[in-house]
Amino acid sequence: MKLPVVAYGMPVLRKKGKAIDKDYPGLQKLIDDMFETMYASEGVGLAAPQIDKSIRLFVVDAEPFGNLEGVSEQEKERLKGKRVFINAKILEETGKEWNFTEGCLSIPGINEDVKRKEKITIEYYDRDFNKHTEEIDGLLARVIQHEYDHIEGILFTDRLSPIKKRLLKRKLENISKGKVNVSYRMKFPKK
Ligand code: NI
Repeated sequence: MKLPVVAYGMPVLRKKGKAIDKDYPGLQKLIDDMFETMYASEGVGLAAPQIDKSIRLFVVDAEPFGNLEGVSEQEKERLKGKRVFINAKILEETGKEWNFTEGCLSIPGINEDVKRKEKITIEYYDRDFNKHTEEIDGLLARVIQHEYDHIEGILFTDRLSPIKKRLLKRKLENISKGKVNVSYRMKFPKK
């Protein structure tokens, strides 16, 4: 089942998600629904706050980024596959900061360069509640960093310069008022 995507301006996007356990009601169905919602809206990641649930869960499938210019065959392979991150914790971010143009299903029509570090060490549970600790870099790390921000109540626009933020203010207000042009269902703040 496709779920509506929460728009910029909804308070849930600003909350820190709560940790969950394997008895969380309807977890497996929720994960499947999140993937379905993400694929239908052509996203490469989706975090639970974006479907109005303030919990530490996000899903990623960054395969479409394999078609970007300059991506090696090796990286293409690494981008493939459905990944589920439960109760994730980024333990370390290392390497040089690099720019990449990010977007967000909750902030349609805005794409801006964001600087993030190259490499992360992340601890998380998969959908069967097996614990993993992984070092990830490149585009996959980038997607995970963006989704991880969501469960911390942070949006990519928060990471832009004060000037950029000022320039985007009106556009962001319009999104929160429901003035968007998207092919997927969204949920907006109450007036
Ligand atoms: Ni996002």
